[in-house]
Amino acid sequence: MEGLSIAHIDGRTQLVGILGYPVAHSLSPEMHNAAFAELGMNWRCVPLLVHPDKLAEALRGIAALGFRGANVTVPHKVACIPYLDRVTESVNIVGAVNTIRVDGSDGRLEGFNTDVSGFLTDLAANQINIGKDSRVVILGAGGAARAIGAGLVRSGAHITLVNRTVERGLQLASFLRSSWEGCEVEAVGLEELEAVTREATLIVNATSVGMFPHTDSSPWRDGVPFPKNAVLYDTIYRPLQTKLMRDAERSGLRVIGGLGMLIHQGAAAFEIWTGRKPPIDLMRAVCLKRLSEN
Ligand code: ATR
Repeated sequence: MEGLSIAHIDGRTQLVGILGYPVAHSLSPEMHNAAFAELGMNWRCVPLLVHPDKLAEALRGIAALGFRGANVTVPHKVACIPYLDRVTESVNIVGAVNTIRVDGSDGRLEGFNTDVSGFLTDLAANQINIGKDSRVVILGAGGAARAIGAGLVRSGAHITLVNRTVERGLQLASFLRSSWEGCEVEAVGLEELEAVTREATLIVNATSVGMFPHTDSSPWRDGVPFPKNAVLYDTIYRPLQTKLMRDAERSGLRVIGGLGMLIHQGAAAFEIWTGRKPPIDLMRAVCLKRLSEN
């Protein structure tokens, strides 16, 4: 099997899919297929364009067709939960699923969230330790912010959510507080960005501002100085370097983009499906190549 080409499909090929709408931009098929080929595994990952109205049928379909699992992306991450047979604790904490495993014996569907572990693994890979002395500012209060917040609630860090719509930030803060006793989470509006980032040790952009094709936008307010000793982590990976990252770097901050989180959430999904550790460096190279072409 060693060196099996990606194009090879036969009667024993095992399938995983990526369910999204749209899905054509997804890097997951290339990332996983490169890893399957490198490990000589007769597995393939295919993109599955699933209209929101057809999600329940599609999920029954992947089980019926003998798929081994799937990644789930926008807009299905929350909507898929009622159709799963069981979910892990990470799903209960985040309220979203990005990975499904199909039980080979009974076709039951189990939901996971590897965005959280992907973020935490990438922080560790970048030697960023979060503890009770950390002051983390999360920009945003949507799905990405929820995963980041859920990943950090146990760390002891003081967390501040900064969101354009304050009410949404307050709701997420209260949810995160209820998910982990004693965790310090507050929420403010964008106008308080300067005040709450002054002492920040880590700033995470979990908004979609700056994402391709709006690469000239930044969630940072004009005129607000960057705190000198903070690390800036942007969850966006397309483009590889956002305007926010460029501006923060110019002000002397260490900056990290979202590619590592993408790779590590994919690697965790790969392990859930196959029980094997994928070649991380190869997955990174495949994604870098695709993203550099854009
Ligand atoms: P995701 O699941 O990727 O987090 P989302 O749930 O749509 O996507 O959330 C997008 C986040 O980006 C939200 O925090 C959103 O702020 P609002 O809650 O106020 O909508 C933020 N966002 C999007 N466009 C923005 C903009 N132009 N300025 C500031 N924040 C923006």
